[in-house]
Amino acid sequence: MEDRFRRRIDYLRMSITDRCNLRCLYCMPPQGVTSRTRDEILRMEEILRVAEVAIQLGINKFRLTGGEPLLRKGVIPFIRSLALLPGVEDIAVTTNGTLLLEMGEQLWDAGVKRLNISLDTLDSEKFNRITRGGNLKQVWDGIEKVLEIGFAPVKLNIVALRNFNDREWADFARLTLDYPLHVRFIELMPIGTSWTMAGDSFVSCEEIVSVIEQELGELNPAKSGVRGCGPAEYYTLPNSKGSIGFIHAMSNHFCADCNRLRLTADGKLRPCLHDQHEVDIREALRSGAGDRELQQLFHKAVALKPANHHLATGAPEAGRGMCQIGG
Ligand code: GTP
Ligand code: 5AD
Ligand code: SF4
Repeated sequence: MEDRFRRRIDYLRMSITDRCNLRCLYCMPPQGVTSRTRDEILRMEEILRVAEVAIQLGINKFRLTGGEPLLRKGVIPFIRSLALLPGVEDIAVTTNGTLLLEMGEQLWDAGVKRLNISLDTLDSEKFNRITRGGNLKQVWDGIEKVLEIGFAPVKLNIVALRNFNDREWADFARLTLDYPLHVRFIELMPIGTSWTMAGDSFVSCEEIVSVIEQELGELNPAKSGVRGCGPAEYYTLPNSKGSIGFIHAMSNHFCADCNRLRLTADGKLRPCLHDQHEVDIREALRSGAGDRELQQLFHKAVALKPANHHLATGAPEAGRGMCQIGG
């Protein structure tokens, strides 16, 4: 599929639950979000059907997101079935890492090879604070476990936050010298009604590069191997095992290369992370729509893709939060 701006759409991010076992300060309000009822959430067979139709339209890369996707009951058999669909080239998962120690092996066996794990700090007390109760050791043990199993690439997502993790950027970068990890700094996006962090938490990737370079020397563009389906740009330190990525969602957005659609847990196709348009696919699925009708809903969603987003740093965006869209 191609959109109005001749961008090729071959990647679907599927949020399989809006529930999460953490409540990161920038993502969720203190009480969490009101989850959709069970009936509102797509069943696993329905999501699989959406994936089948996506494949018919040339989508071959899938990422499971949430909330926390590993909380969804039946996720392992679901991934196994997805991996068996002819035409699926890549299945990746974005997770908070809390369940990797127990589920890593099963994920690998089911067909996932790439993982992106959220980790905003290497300090246990701060981790507990930003996640409202999370345990850093649990996540770190999970990271070591998945590296041992052989997942590659394993990427860490670090939302850059002034006065929170600004003294740790070089420490994260140093991790790439010792571990085959790809640490990615993400510019904070003002998204969702739970937005409580002031605009001054925002830090640009440019600033992070300069802090890292001051401490550790020049970063060189990474040669190959880590580029996934997403927008990060990767660099390396000399003799590193991993790389350092930057997702400059605000300061220099990458919309011109956009290749994706999203499916929300409650069955909407979402043309853009930052655009409130959605195309309902759930009702069609439940009223026995055939492949052609479902394909048309995909075409409708692709036609609604904007050229780019118009977010400004610090201005909170109304509408659904990250945890409901899946990032
Ligand atoms: P790979 O490149 O395949 O590893 O995936 P990814 O980096 O796109 O996936 P991940 O779920 O780890 O997302 C990392 C960050 O990029 C999150 O903060 C996402 O919200 C952000 N992101 C992913 N896609 C988009 C997008 O289309 N637009 C914007 N603005 N941000 C995005
Ligand atoms: N800005 C930038 N990144 C965010 N994430 C969640 N909320 C935001 C935000 N407001 C990140 C999470 C996760 C990924 C899917 O999106 O940390 O790693
Ligand atoms: Fe695509 Fe919208 Fe993300 Fe830009 S913000 S890359 S248009 S989904």
